[in-house]
This record gives sequence, structure tokens and C-alpha cells, in this order.
Amino acid sequence: MIKTILSGYASQFEEKLARAYHSGGTAYDVIYDACRYSLLLGGKRLRPFLLNSFYKLCGGCGDMSERFEIAIESIHTYSLIHDDLPCMDNDDMRRGKPSCHKQFGEEYALLAGDALLTAAFANAAASDSALGYNNIVRAISVLAECAGIDGMIGGQTVDLLFEEKKAGEATLELICRLKTGALIKAACTIGCILADADDEKIQAAALYAEKLGLAFQIVDDILDETGSAEKLGKPIHSDRDNDKSTFVSLLGIEKCRAEVERLTEEAKAALDLFGPDADPLKDLADLLCERDH
Ligand code: IPE
Ligand code: IPE
Ligand code: MG
Ligand code: MG
Ligand code: MG
Repeated sequence: MIKTILSGYASQFEEKLARAYHSGGTAYDVIYDACRYSLLLGGKRLRPFLLNSFYKLCGGCGDMSERFEIAIESIHTYSLIHDDLPCMDNDDMRRGKPSCHKQFGEEYALLAGDALLTAAFANAAASDSALGYNNIVRAISVLAECAGIDGMIGGQTVDLLFEEKKAGEATLELICRLKTGALIKAACTIGCILADADDEKIQAAALYAEKLGLAFQIVDDILDETGSAEKLGKPIHSDRDNDKSTFVSLLGIEKCRAEVERLTEEAKAALDLFGPDADPLKDLADLLCERDH
């Protein structure tokens, strides 16, 4: 069952994360503490799981994708720390605990985010050379592109620009594709690249990621309206309070649910060329469609 597979992966992955961010008794240990606080305990570990799953699906062996798994979760966690800051979404809870800035102060939350982003690339660059330097460099450049201006940062920017303004469907799609879809796409395609997969497989993974990423953000927006803060580990009604433009505010819950179901089916269909080995990733798409946290 995919739920069990994901949670088994998550607990092993968390041990690796903890090792990657062990503090060394430095004068700046507060930043290690802030990084570990936000990284460890809590979080679905969706992006590293996707990376690992596509690596294996494309025939990658051993745990050589590990450094990139740490890298992508580090970038994701940095994006959450900064997303919660008062100058962004101003949310006080994350992953079931006070947000990083609530616990450590804004200045250290800002620096912890910066530290995680930088450490991500240090980790990626320290990958096992047996993956092939061409593949490592290609994967690093995908990671940079998806996290940067034309990826997650661009999406977060348009998200802010459309606070207190009504975005149309095309703009909403752009926001979701960039702020959330880009990192999910990085996870899926990097897994393939590290396994030295051919372009057809990389394209299929990218298409799956695009559909999944869009569906994932629409579900996030639905849960912001209808979910439970306790289960989500973050406040509900944050989008409404910030007067955000979301698919929910434009289309309403019912149409959004139908859209999520359509996108989920499209995501699953994109994996047909992998045959039955891709079934767990299809199950994952269903699980994310029905999730309550
Ligand atoms: C939250 O991502 C931010 C979005 C992109 C919607 P997740 O829902 O994957 O958060 P964690 O990692 O499980 O905390
Ligand atoms: C944020 O979208 C996506 C990123 C952090 C890049 P949201 O602002 O909706 O995410 P949550 O709801 O705070 O997790
Ligand atoms: Mg946000
Ligand atoms: Mg937010
Ligand atoms: Mg949200």
C-alpha cells in the first residue's frame, strides 16, 4: 500500500536528513537548530520520495540519489520557512509546530532559509561520482532552474502580486505551476536524469509532475478552506485572510474537486509507458488527490 511505502521511506529519509544537518558545537549553532527544527519531524517528504521513486523506476541502483533527495527537501523546507514569514503569508504554524520565525525570530528564520538553500547545492554537488558528472551537473541545473526566478521564486512572486487582486485562470495556473509544480517537476525529472534515463522517460516524468503539481496545489487551496488545522499542521483560512487569488476563490470547491480528479487521471496516464512498475506512483497520485493533510 502506497501510504505504508511512503511512511517507511519518510522515516528512513529523516535519519539521513538528521545526519546531513548535525550541528558541530559552533558559535552559530542557532542556525543549525533552526534548520533542524523545520526540517525534522513533520512533512510528507513527497518531493524526495518522488525523486527516489523515479530514480528506481528508471533502473537507478543503490542509494546514490540520496544527496539530491536531501537537496530537494532542503529547498522545499526553505521555501516553507520564507513563505510563513510576516512579509509573505504571515502564518504562525508549520508542520504542527510554531513556524520557524515564531520559534527563532525572523532574522534567524531568514538565515535558516538561506542556509538550507545553499546547503542543498552543496549536498547535490557532493553526490556519488558513479552517477556520472554529466548527469550530476544536468540535475543540479534542473534544480537551480526549478527553484529560481523562472521556477518557485517566480511563482511566489506572482502569488504576492495577486493578493487583493483577482487572477484569471491562466494566471492561477502560472502561479501553481511555478510555486509548487516546479519543485515537484524537479524531483521527478532529477530522479530520471540520475538513473541515466532516456528523453522519452524524462518527458513522461515531467508530464506526470506537471499534472500532479497542479492538482497538489489545488488540493492545498481546498484544504485551506475545508481542512483541519490540526491535521494539516498549519493554519486554515490563510489564503482568505491574505486575500489570495486561488482556484478555490475563482471556481469554488466543487469545480476544483473535479479539476483535481481530471488532473490526477492525466498524471496517471502519463506513466503508462513505464508499465506496471509505475503503479505505486499512480497510487500516489490517487492518495494525494484524496488527502486531508
Ligand atoms: C506545502 O507543501 C506547500 C505547498 C507547495 C502546497 P507540502 O504539503 O508538501 O508540505 P509538507 O512538506 O508535507 O510539510
Ligand atoms: C506555497 O503555497 C508554496 C511554496 C511554499 C513555494 P502556500 O502558501 O499555499 O503553501 P502553504 O499553504 O503555506 O503550505
Ligand atoms: Mg504562500
Ligand atoms: Mg503559505
Ligand atoms: Mg496553501
